[in-house]
Amino acid sequence: MLDLLRAPVAQAIAQHLDLDLAEVMPLVIPPTKAGAGDLAVPCFALAKARKVAPPRLASELADTLASTIPGAQASAAGPFLNISFSPATVAGMLLPALADNPCVALRDDSGAGHSVCIDFSSPNIAKHLAFHHIRSTMIGNSLARIYQACGWDVARINFLGDWGTAFGRLIAGWKRENLSLSDLEAADDKVTFLNALYVRISTAAEADASVAEEARTWSKRLEDGDTEARELWQVFKDASLTEFHKVYGLLGVDFDSWKGEAYYEDKMAPVLAELESSGLLSKDDGASVVDLSAEGFKKPVLIKRADGGTLYATRDLAACQDRFNEFNFDRSMYVVDLGQGLHFGVGFAVAKKLDKPYADRLRHVGFGVVLMWDETEQAFLKGSSKKGRVLLLTDVLNESITRARAIVAEKNPELSDDEQNAVAHAVGIGAVVFNDLKNGRKGDVKFRYEDALNMQGDTGVYLQFAHARLCSIERRFASTCADAPAGDVQLLTRDDEKNVLLLIARMRDALRLTLDNDEPSQLAQALLQLAAGISSWLSAGSKDHSARVIGDDLAVSAARIRLVAAARATLGEGLRLLGLIAPERM
Ligand code: ARG
Repeated sequence: MLDLLRAPVAQAIAQHLDLDLAEVMPLVIPPTKAGAGDLAVPCFALAKARKVAPPRLASELADTLASTIPGAQASAAGPFLNISFSPATVAGMLLPALADNPCVALRDDSGAGHSVCIDFSSPNIAKHLAFHHIRSTMIGNSLARIYQACGWDVARINFLGDWGTAFGRLIAGWKRENLSLSDLEAADDKVTFLNALYVRISTAAEADASVAEEARTWSKRLEDGDTEARELWQVFKDASLTEFHKVYGLLGVDFDSWKGEAYYEDKMAPVLAELESSGLLSKDDGASVVDLSAEGFKKPVLIKRADGGTLYATRDLAACQDRFNEFNFDRSMYVVDLGQGLHFGVGFAVAKKLDKPYADRLRHVGFGVVLMWDETEQAFLKGSSKKGRVLLLTDVLNESITRARAIVAEKNPELSDDEQNAVAHAVGIGAVVFNDLKNGRKGDVKFRYEDALNMQGDTGVYLQFAHARLCSIERRFASTCADAPAGDVQLLTRDDEKNVLLLIARMRDALRLTLDNDEPSQLAQALLQLAAGISSWLSAGSKDHSARVIGDDLAVSAARIRLVAAARATLGEGLRLLGLIAPERM
């Protein structure tokens, strides 16, 4: 978007110096100092090529620009050329593009023809989605949306942890207690039911060796493909998915692939064969391992257990290859907590050792932990509200929605019940999600309802309100200014209007930074800045009548409403890209 401003500048310079536009474009940059205009051109390279002193070229170009771009002021500051535009000039360059495509500030085609796999959420089944799952789920979800907005083909993958010895135990417990499908069906929350069963069988196995043996036998039967074991495993998996879908539904998250660990369980032979034939596999106490000491990993990677069973690492290797076969990815990302850094480091090193064409395309998008404020302890605690109890994601989301409902009812009692519920949902969920995304992902996240739902803070609800405020101005304009003329950009003359336009134009840089660093916080912060710019523009009207969007001069109002529409669309789309809903009324 900023390119729309840069292009005419680069064009004029290119023409004047008889150069290619493409050569000059990269030299036109955002100002290096605050107050140094809207764009700058460091003239060193250009001057060198012309064999003149940079300051001289800067002032020569300043003259050229002033005469070729109406509304531009150009001046030389030493070797730098600084350019500023009048608000109307900026509006004239940007608003038509934004009218054609309201989301254009948050679009980019840099990913066209490229594909990316994003492995995110990927919980273990027969367990609840805990509060910490918000991180992988929503970082992954927003990256998926942002990659899509940048033209990439995105495969959203939920690599369910649906394999392992825990399932043998569960089956053993189920059989011992003579449970039936109707028992599970009757449970309010099926995962809670399975958890409780798991606790009972584990306690029994500890007390009685024969129970532990039963559990092992069932694990083995499951691995060997025994029909009864498989059927029960499927029951557990379906029950878990039913619960997961409720939470994903609340969050508005979807996946394209649900191939989990179990899918790869019988597809491991080629992986092992390849490691074997490349001479990477060695024996260690009956187990098969890959030695990565040359790559700096002290411990060899366990690929196959002595009893023949495969492991998480092996299944990930198989899944990686399978994704490449299916999606021919240019990038494959794993949105998984930083604690699994070693697991991915090792996996990527194996891919390299195998000379995989995709070895350099793998990325671990790690993140820190989430801490919840505890009133009793007066501290942010990890993972649990009460000691030892897992804090469920659904519980946090629902509590946030309940609190949001109270805020919404107070703020706007005129909304119908249904509307209040919908807004409370958007605000409650948005509070949790935005709190998670607003800071760099590698840091830990602190969560406190009051902070996340603070309308004056750097929060989702602050952004949602800014968006709803713009919507309401548009509605008022539509109902009271039906016979307004078409908005003329020449009437946008205020600096705060120009500021909003520039903030919109800079969104694409935030998008690029987000992609380059897999860091949704870049977009989140840019949206906060945009909202702040919008707010100071709109607030000017409360002191100065002439600054109001809808004021006495219909022609001016019509021009301003175009900027309102552009800002509203950009903010709304930015929120969507982060995974938030932007209600039109709040
Ligand atoms: N199921 C794993 C866990 O809960 C996360 C899986 C992440 N994805 C992967 N391809 N390893 O820890």
